[in-house]
Amino acid sequence: METKLTKSPRIAAQILLNGGVVAFPTETVYGLGANAFDETHVQKIFLAKGRPPDNPLIAHVASFHELELLVRKIPPVAERLIEAFFPGPLTLVLPRSKYVPDIVTAGLDTIGVRMPSLKLAQAFLKECGVPIAAPSANLSGKPSATSWKAAWDDFNGKIEAILKGDDSELGLESTVVDCSVKRPTVLRSGAISLEELRRIAPETRLEISRRASIPKSPGMKYRHYAPEAEVKIIDDFSNLDYGGAYIGLREPPQAFAHQRICKGLGDYARALYAFFRECDARGLKTIHCQSVPECGIGLALMDRLRKAAKK
Ligand code: TXA
Ligand code: MG
Repeated sequence: METKLTKSPRIAAQILLNGGVVAFPTETVYGLGANAFDETHVQKIFLAKGRPPDNPLIAHVASFHELELLVRKIPPVAERLIEAFFPGPLTLVLPRSKYVPDIVTAGLDTIGVRMPSLKLAQAFLKECGVPIAAPSANLSGKPSATSWKAAWDDFNGKIEAILKGDDSELGLESTVVDCSVKRPTVLRSGAISLEELRRIAPETRLEISRRASIPKSPGMKYRHYAPEAEVKIIDDFSNLDYGGAYIGLREPPQAFAHQRICKGLGDYARALYAFFRECDARGLKTIHCQSVPECGIGLALMDRLRKAAKK
């Protein structure tokens, strides 16, 4: 199959509406989209990614009308979060409507919904005119794609098109908050921080049952975000071995052959996945990543580093 590269949201939407799988940019990472109401279409996403069928997809919408088609009810706390953070890098898990095929939610009674803020994503979703089911645009288990080129590397010849946009502004996936339960529960940390969520919904908690046999967010049980190289999280710079690569905020005492000194937490988050992919392309065996304080986006960054470091 030939994978078409286009900058036109209209052309990308036409390809999607004809049954093609289309990678598209958002402010967090690139997504791999299909019509959320079409079961056979969504099936193609799972095949292209090699994604386990018990891992549900997020439905992306351009309007509140589309959102209402997907969910059965919106609890008051979810309304407040929507008011505060939509459109943006927040996914809410809500009771799903009867129109949503099982394949999207992996049979769960809830659905994750998100309204991206990136203008090109909004234009694409509007042209599609239906909610778009989309996981991150990476082969299952690999770091998410934060550029059209990364999506191309993973899916050239496997999907119908890529909507070319800029590199992702945030670089880490959206914050996922379960609002189908009594207290809003963060299933995956992201760019909308716990502090920001609590300003709107003070009762918000972090999921604690991470080690339970049935994780609340099915995706969290799989190895994720990981490069081929071994990831080492470091906070002590005194006894470093200088093999491989380094990414972090602090300049190490000696330079690594390949390193990226980031200008702040936001820059670190934005650069991480591309750095992972670049290190793999260079055949490096080890990536040293500086640990960061777990506040603001630092919580999401440490979550991704820990997952990448777990083999
Ligand atoms: O930023 C993002 O969220 C990107 C862009 C493309 O929107 N998408 C993304 O999708 O990261 P994905 O499929 O890679 O991750 C979705 C996460 C998974 O951990 C999945 O298990 C969880 O959200 N999830 C989706 N629907 C859920 C549901 N109904 N209940 C619990 N967790 C859900
Ligand atoms: Mg993903």
